[in-house]
Amino acid sequence: MPCPALPDGFDFTDPDVLHHRVPLPEFAALRRTEPVRWIPQPGNVAGFQDAGYWAVTRHADVKYVSTHPELFSSSLNTAIIRFNEHIERDAIDAQRLILLNMDPPEHTRVRQIVQRVFTPRAIRALEERLRTRALTIAANARDRSGPFDFVTEVACELPLQAIAELIGIPQDDRARIFDWSNKMIAYDDPEYAITEEVGAESATELIAYAMNMAADRKACPAKDIVTTLVAAEDEGSLGSDEFGFFVLMLAVAGNETTRNAITHGMHAFLTHPGQWELYKRERPSTAAEEIVRWATPVVSFQRTATQDTELGGRRIGKGERVGIFYASANHDPEVFDEPDAFDITRDPNPHLGFGGGGPHYCLGKSLAVLEIDLIFNAVADALPGLRLTGDPRRLRSAWINGVKELRVSAG
Ligand code: HEM
Repeated sequence: MPCPALPDGFDFTDPDVLHHRVPLPEFAALRRTEPVRWIPQPGNVAGFQDAGYWAVTRHADVKYVSTHPELFSSSLNTAIIRFNEHIERDAIDAQRLILLNMDPPEHTRVRQIVQRVFTPRAIRALEERLRTRALTIAANARDRSGPFDFVTEVACELPLQAIAELIGIPQDDRARIFDWSNKMIAYDDPEYAITEEVGAESATELIAYAMNMAADRKACPAKDIVTTLVAAEDEGSLGSDEFGFFVLMLAVAGNETTRNAITHGMHAFLTHPGQWELYKRERPSTAAEEIVRWATPVVSFQRTATQDTELGGRRIGKGERVGIFYASANHDPEVFDEPDAFDITRDPNPHLGFGGGGPHYCLGKSLAVLEIDLIFNAVADALPGLRLTGDPRRLRSAWINGVKELRVSAG
């Protein structure tokens, strides 16, 4: 059945779409009329059966795909759902070394090791240092005269510092690490003037840095998290290359996502003054989750069908790609009352901004929620009169709901 509200040739992963807006009306139309729909794409790519993908838009179906890795594999590239001609075979092979793109049992083995980094105790241990950082970031922004960019002055730093703290990157090396991390994620958007080669070089340098760190600890164990990951004798440990790719993934998965959640959250507060007043008064603990639902920084991920199967009344063929649209699931009226309202007291809030609950569910969720809480508490105290002075400038991307610049003024 054709979907009347979706123009011919419309592709949710066309970077020009997210460059302008999150396609919420188009998602709503599909949820109503054709919740699992084949989106044809131009071009083709080795390894995938057909050019195009199934767009999965309902909350229940996104959860189903996420929780059935035996039917929907992650190993043929999860993170880049975009025009086929942009995907190179080599890029797919390299992506497989990243946890996000592994299937059980390999995924289970690596995840069991790396989740030692994210225990509640480990996250609590970071809290005071991150609070101090958040207070400094907000105080520096308050002291600026005139309008400034919220992204570079406020949202950028805490996510990078949190990752650096998590794995114990020495202070002197942080500027280099931050530079590589930012270059790696920037090349999708021509405005950054960073070529794909520079992005790839930065990734290689970051991996090499992390592999050195691992080799160092294997030779000379210390009482730190890197040693726990690479030199544990009893419960298994990561090889130096696996550690390199783990750090690379943190720099991608934990950096831009949290930065965008913070930026969208600020924009949402400033365009919903009642919610900002409520936040400043009551600081509800439910706010961070609503910010992530509202922002949904990761719009979609991708899986590949391992066998012929059915979903939402459609037959999915083995080898076909399936796009799971968290941004659509997070506005599904079957699950959320008034899904298009920004409501920081929303409770319960079973959003899928951190994933659909399967084996790949975001490992950094508690850290991300902590960072969002810390930064908004600090901003609410230091910059209570913050106001917008321009529209957000959006990132051109196939799957990230990103903002490059958000002009604000302290008073
Ligand atoms: C996975 C979102 C912050 C580390 C994911 C997934 C999503 C996501 C959608 C995939 C889930 C799936 O496929 O089922 C977010 C958002 C964040 C955030 C929206 C911020 C608001 C972080 C942070 C870290 C992190 C701060 C760590 C520093 C990871 C890792 C995975 C992951 C390691 C892969 C887990 C696996 O494959 O087993 N995240 N994330 N994330 N995230 Fe996050």
